[in-house]
Amino acid sequence: MKYWLLSFPGIAVVALSFISIQQNSAPVVKITAPKVATFSWDAPVSYSISVADKEDGDSKFDEINGLEVLLEVRFIDSKGQVPSANQPAAPDEQGLAIMRSSNCFNCHNFNSKLIGPSYSDIVAKYPLSAANVALLTKRIKEGSAGIWGKAAMPTHPELSDNETETVVKWMYKQAANPNVTYYTGLDGVFRTKAAPADKKGTYVITASYTDHGLKTTPGKQRITGRDMMILQSR
Ligand code: HEC
Repeated sequence: MKYWLLSFPGIAVVALSFISIQQNSAPVVKITAPKVATFSWDAPVSYSISVADKEDGDSKFDEINGLEVLLEVRFIDSKGQVPSANQPAAPDEQGLAIMRSSNCFNCHNFNSKLIGPSYSDIVAKYPLSAANVALLTKRIKEGSAGIWGKAAMPTHPELSDNETETVVKWMYKQAANPNVTYYTGLDGVFRTKAAPADKKGTYVITASYTDHGLKTTPGKQRITGRDMMILQSR
C-alpha cells in the first residue's frame, strides 16, 4: 500500500481530496481593524472582524450572523503573562462553548440590553448563591417571562441540567473578572482602562466564530475559527 501510494502520488491526492469532501471546513476569522497594534489608556478602540466560511458564507456578503461573532477583550497587567503572537488561542471554556452552540447570543449581550437583559445586569440582579444558580438554571431550561419586560425567553429543552448549570456558573465567573469582556458583532468599539500606576499593560483581543457544520448534518462537527491581536500601550 505504501509503495503503491509512493508510485502514484497523483492518485493518492485525488483519493484524499475525495475523502475530505465530507469534512466541514474551518471558518477563517480575521481582525481587520484596528490596523495598528497599539492602544491609548482610557480611550475608545474601534474594531472590525471578517468571517469567511465555506459552508456558512462570507461576512462581506452579509451571510454571517454578526451576533454569533465574539470579540474577547482581555487586559493583562505588567505582572501577567502575555501569550505569544503565534501561539494558538485557547479554546472556549465549556460554559461559553455551550452558549455558542445554543441560541443565547441572538438575544443576549454581555454589557448591553438586546432582546433580553445583558448578562452583567442578570448577575447584578441575582447575587451569586447556590439558590440563584439553581433559579437561573431552571429559568433557562423552562423559559422566562414577565421579569425584565414584555419579551419572553423560550425554553431550552435541548440543554441538560448539567449543561445549563455550567452556563450559569460561567456567567457568574465571567462577570466577576474585571479584566475580560466580550462583545458580539462584526464591528464595534470598546474602551480601554484608565492607566494603572505603572502605566504598563497589554490588551489581547481575540475574535472568534463557531460555524454551523455541514449543511447535511447541521449543528454537528462545528469548528471555531479565531484571530488574535496583541495591543501594546502607546
Ligand atoms: C429569543 C430570545 C432569547 C433567547 C434565545 C435566550 N434568551 Fe435568555 N432571556 C430572554 C428574555 C426576553 C429574558 C427576560 C425574560 C423575563 O423578563 O422573564 C431572558 C432572561 C434570561 C435570564 C434571566 C432570567 C431571570 O430569571 O431573570 C437568563 C439567566 C438568561 N436569559 C440566559 C439565557 C441563556 C443562557 C440562553 C441560551 C441558552 C438564553 N438566555 C437564550 C430572551 C432570550
